[in-house]
Amino acid sequence: MLAGGLLMSETHAPVMLDEIAELFESVPSGVLLDATFGMGGHSTAILHRHPGLQVVGIDRDLMAIAHAAHVKDTLGSADAARLRVMHTRFDGAVEALDQLGVTRLSGALFDLGVSSPQLDNAERGFSYRNDARLDMRMDRSQELSAWNVVNEYDAESIADILRRNADERFAGRIADAIVAARPIDTTARLAEVVIAAIPAATRRTGGHPAKRTFQAIRIEVNAELDILANALKDVMSLVVPHGRVAVLSYHSGEDRIVKNVLRESETDTSRPNIATPFVHPSRTAPRAWRRVRVAKHPNPTEQQRNPRATSARLRVMERCEVAA
Ligand SMILES: C[S@@+](CC[C@H](N)C(=O)[O-])C[C@H]1O[C@@H](n2cnc3c(N)ncnc32)[C@H](O)[C@@H]1O
Repeated sequence: MLAGGLLMSETHAPVMLDEIAELFESVPSGVLLDATFGMGGHSTAILHRHPGLQVVGIDRDLMAIAHAAHVKDTLGSADAARLRVMHTRFDGAVEALDQLGVTRLSGALFDLGVSSPQLDNAERGFSYRNDARLDMRMDRSQELSAWNVVNEYDAESIADILRRNADERFAGRIADAIVAARPIDTTARLAEVVIAAIPAATRRTGGHPAKRTFQAIRIEVNAELDILANALKDVMSLVVPHGRVAVLSYHSGEDRIVKNVLRESETDTSRPNIATPFVHPSRTAPRAWRRVRVAKHPNPTEQQRNPRATSARLRVMERCEVAA
């Protein structure tokens, strides 16, 4: 339970839930990796819908791992028996799966970014909406927090983070203002400094003026972009023919990385899990993966109901059958 008697599952609306559960209709029986278990909304729907699938859920946040016990309680015993959850980052997924004796996957889901309870829980220090000490760590055992980034990085590094992680056009001004205002201990103070650094005329456009700065710092604290490409490739290497990988991304930097990895995978036949096909020299190599969905957005009804889904982009790939 969260403070106020709220169940955490009630505070995160899983994005494109039906569509994602349906995507795994055609995959072979076996194990599906939910690489971003969160509050378990997607895992629950997949377990309900596909009795032939087991789910291994991983998350780097212990709050999500603790919540898994509640998810299991709400699943019927047959579905609960098909769910295992482990605390790790998704770049440790292959190792975690190996520990469970899982070397092949029927599918994988990456629902990137943060969950609503992480954002909404004031003491986690993620959001300009709640005043708290700057934190933003998904895994609270790690040392680097938003406080360190804001108070210890030089102006050039902060500006670079704001540009790279959030396309912030006032990156230089904001970085200089942050450095000048140090020490900055709280989310409210950071928001105040950022707002003051942005030209008055642009403060009223494009949502909260500090939104991009908070996003960029969160991505830096959690190394979200640094680990994504390799983690995705490693997980994809375990997926069997006709298995599927679905990725929900929420901003352009994230989606660019996903798009590149998925595009490269179309011609990559070198993964350990598939037999190297004989290719006649006069033919082009067979495709290793095919695209099932290209950058699909949630429908307008969902976007209206759940504003956090608005920026979501879903990409889905299926591993092709390869002749031995
Ligand atoms: C958008 S939420 C997922 C919500 C989930 N699909 C649901 O239905 O409840 C993202 C989750 O992924 C976790 N996460 C983000 N990056 C991660 C990483 N690199 N490794 C493991 N978990 C990660 C976050 O802690 C968060 O709980």
